[in-house]
Amino acid sequence: MVRLDGVTKRFGTVTAAEDVSFALHQGEFLTILGPSGSGKTTVLRMIAGFMQPTAGTILLGGRPVSELPPHRRSIGMVFQRLALFPHMTAAGNIAYPLKMRGFPRAEIPERVERFLALVQLHGLGDRRINELSGGQQQRVAIARALSFEPDLLLLDEPLASLDRKLREDMQLEFRRIQQELGVATINVTHDQREALVMSDRVIVMDGGRVQQAAAPQDAYRQPANRFVAGFIGVTNFLACTVLEAREGEADVQIGDHRCAGRSAAGAEAVGRTADAALRAEQVLIGEAGQPIAHADMLVPATVTEVIFEGDRVVYAVDAPTLGGASLRIFDHDPLHHKTRRIGETVTIGWKRRDLMVFPRDA
Ligand SMILES: Nc1ncnc2c1ncn2[C@@H]1O[C@H](COP(=O)(O)OP(=O)(O)O)[C@@H](O)[C@H]1O
Ligand SMILES: [Mg+2]
Repeated sequence: MVRLDGVTKRFGTVTAAEDVSFALHQGEFLTILGPSGSGKTTVLRMIAGFMQPTAGTILLGGRPVSELPPHRRSIGMVFQRLALFPHMTAAGNIAYPLKMRGFPRAEIPERVERFLALVQLHGLGDRRINELSGGQQQRVAIARALSFEPDLLLLDEPLASLDRKLREDMQLEFRRIQQELGVATINVTHDQREALVMSDRVIVMDGGRVQQAAAPQDAYRQPANRFVAGFIGVTNFLACTVLEAREGEADVQIGDHRCAGRSAAGAEAVGRTADAALRAEQVLIGEAGQPIAHADMLVPATVTEVIFEGDRVVYAVDAPTLGGASLRIFDHDPLHHKTRRIGETVTIGWKRRDLMVFPRDA
């Protein structure tokens, strides 16, 4: 469907995208995930043909985008600012691209009804845009982008301005519609949850470069580098020294403790400073001086912060023997319903395979 090869975009001295390559297959939902300024919109705008790469090529259906005139590009788009026509009805907005593309007049009302139903706005076609809620307007924008059945759907943070509950509902809604139509989709977001929930594949960008391209589970479980580990999920980083490196594993010294973990680093990393990463939900918390079921490592700690969030308790703890590190812990505790107190002495622990070692400057 779409193929980018070595795509770079410079604005004067700013390199917005550098050597970006990936392919999108028929029916696939791909999300470009990255912080603000990482080059996501730039990549999307080049795919849409709104601007030319400084270097590299972009193919749509095997042909260079630049050779296709805009009306021949079969692309639907939804942006953060929806750009709906406020003076028109919902139906009028959805019909607009059909008229522009010369669909037979007689077919348009039936098609508009079909797409209103698809986004669950059946019967609301006569409402003006300003008579619809934020979520309903979002649905009109989706229907308008899809009504001419494009080959490709491009989404640039269309959910960013919605409140959390609605945003989470719309993520599932988008996914349902996309799967129902089977339209190849590229979604851009800075929201890691959205990327994990919606996508077949995630491309993580930082500083204009692709940091990792992977299925959501893999980006979460096997982050390619320290940036990805820190951007997806809440992750504790502990300074360490590499003592020994084997195939896919390493022993590191963290403060007073020798710890084993997963590592992509080779033997050349031995003796070097590295970051040991532990996700907040993979640090276990238990009674002082007691073992913790399933934990391979046990370390004494003191609770410094307790935040009750309903479905979980968030702790901050200090661990003097981990080089004085402070760690964040998510405790979902479905069994004990026990909340620790500030100042309480506890044991923290983790499984050896949950510790990930990332060499610095690699
Ligand atoms: N038209 C432009 N002129 C100059 N710099 C730009 C332009 N568009 C984007 N940039 C710069 O390129 C970088 C990437 O921007 P953008 O693609 O919008 O990032 P994102 O969508 O990930 O927030 C930023 O540093 C931004 O300031
Ligand atoms: Mg952007």
